Amino acid sequence: MAYNLLKGKKGLIFGALNEDSIAWKVAQRAVEEGAEIVLTNTPVSIRMGTIDRLAEACNAIVVPADATSVSDLENLIDKTMEHFGGKFDFILHSIGMSLNVRKGRTYDDLDYDYLAKTLDISAISFHKVIQVARKKDALNDWASIVALSYIAAQRTLYGYNDMADAKALLESIARSFGYIYGREKHVRINTVSQSPTPTTAGKGVLGMSDLMDFADRTSPLGNATADDCAGYVLTLFSDLTRKVTMQNLFHDGGFSSMGMSRRAMKLYEKGLEVEYRDISKRE
Ligand SMILES: NC(=O)c1ccc[n+]([C@@H]2O[C@H](COP(=O)([O-])OP(=O)(O)OC[C@H]3O[C@@H](n4cnc5c(N)ncnc54)[C@H](O)[C@@H]3O)[C@@H](O)[C@H]2O)c1
Repeated sequence: MAYNLLKGKKGLIFGALNEDSIAWKVAQRAVEEGAEIVLTNTPVSIRMGTIDRLAEACNAIVVPADATSVSDLENLIDKTMEHFGGKFDFILHSIGMSLNVRKGRTYDDLDYDYLAKTLDISAISFHKVIQVARKKDALNDWASIVALSYIAAQRTLYGYNDMADAKALLESIARSFGYIYGREKHVRINTVSQSPTPTTAGKGVLGMSDLMDFADRTSPLGNATADDCAGYVLTLFSDLTRKVTMQNLFHDGGFSSMGMSRRAMKLYEKGLEVEYRDISKRE
């Protein structure tokens, strides 16, 4: 059901690779809610993915940009403003990648060139996007900027590797820039900390299916899907949340406030029974 929450608003969406992508769902829902959008991704992701299909369905243009390149971002913001005929109202940063994760390098054996790339792609690009947008005065007053994060920024979750450090930096950038842009132009900047989600980036995380199962059993409301996430992000782009800024907002079915749930405990008890049985057999 649509509520016209974004009627008359215009926005730029990073990170739609294919229909599993969280950014894909946000783009679809934003248009359903009345927004006009511009889509962007790296040239290689545009070639390998299916963003053109999304663009067609959303009546959007696609402007290629590597979010680590300031000159690409300058061109992107210029093209976006040209397309909209002026300033716009929201930006979604839905970008993450770790070469250490991809190449199976564990956190105690990181390749530091890869680490620098992880931080640049997954966190510093957020700073670059905001800095370029601000220098070009691309956003309307009360515009909204959202990036996607994960609870590994606060808690250690085995397998998330150097992406945990990237997410901690990402959330810090939202606070630091949120102060500057908020004071000047009432632009609000937040991160949404999403449940584990089966996307291309998500599936790359070591032990992802177990992590998803654990989070689902632990969260009273169960894991939030990419669709659920899109709905939440839209409220942050809407005028209903104009005083929310510099926050990391958990969108995770309650996971972040849990310790142990009954459902997870039951599974743990079963595992212990098997373990005790095995030990007594050996004895
Ligand atoms: N999937 C999950 O479990 C999960 C959970 C919490 C947060 N997130 C975050 O959500 C965001 C979106 O990821 P997703 O799960 O939808 O996966 P996805 O693989 O669909 O999206 C990741 C996107 O990042 C883009 N990207 C990579 N390098 C880039 C660069 N240099 N410049 C521009 N774009 C680049 C990719 O092309 C891709 O479109 C990421 O920030 C991710 O960390 C994901």
